[in-house]
Amino acid sequence: MGHVQITPSILNADFAALGAEVARIGSADWVHVDVMDNHFVPNLTFGPTMVEALARSTDIPLDAHLMIADADRHAPAYVEAGCASVTFHVEATAAPVRLAREIRAAGARASMALRPATPIDPYEALLPELDMLLLMTVEPGFGGQRFLDLVLPKIRRARELVAKHGVETWIQVDGGVSLETIGRCAEAGADVFVAGSAVYSADDPDRMVAELRAAAEA
Ligand code: DX5
Ligand code: ZN
Repeated sequence: MGHVQITPSILNADFAALGAEVARIGSADWVHVDVMDNHFVPNLTFGPTMVEALARSTDIPLDAHLMIADADRHAPAYVEAGCASVTFHVEATAAPVRLAREIRAAGARASMALRPATPIDPYEALLPELDMLLLMTVEPGFGGQRFLDLVLPKIRRARELVAKHGVETWIQVDGGVSLETIGRCAEAGADVFVAGSAVYSADDPDRMVAELRAAAEA
């Protein structure tokens, strides 16, 4: 397993004060930005203009999670906006290999997300094209949902496949990650942890980042 990285999601932060909200998580490895389009998921957040403003406001690299239809067409704009990592959903992408190569060529890390019921095995051969695999541990769309333990075997399988192919692909989990669930994810083989409500509902978000890190490393 790679080293533990904690990636707070700003989905449950105060959208009217995003710069200040990001300043509250200074020890985070990444800031996770959830882009939603009301088509791929039944919720709407923000687009590249807002993401670009956020990128300018912080030194922490941005990890864009695109929950949008037609990612083939829209993902490159998020590299342009300054995201250091861009994740597209395989369920919303016609040509994932081409898109991953395009994201890498533009200078960002390329990452592919799978909804909870999407199997990993059909995508095994794509691993060398990917800097990160995002395994959703809730149905995408909203923060504050309950962690789905049914995804744990897929995390284990992904860790096996990464080892089998000898690649450096990170394994990220997103959804319901908390002090209670992060240990199970780490034990199964995840190394990058998104946490939204757990971080932003804490009195001291940065302290929660440290506590999550300690719990994942335990
Ligand atoms: C959900 C988003 C998540 C969300 C996680 O669709 O992709 O990043 O912010 O929130 P929590 O940690 O509250 O489940
Ligand atoms: Zn997300």
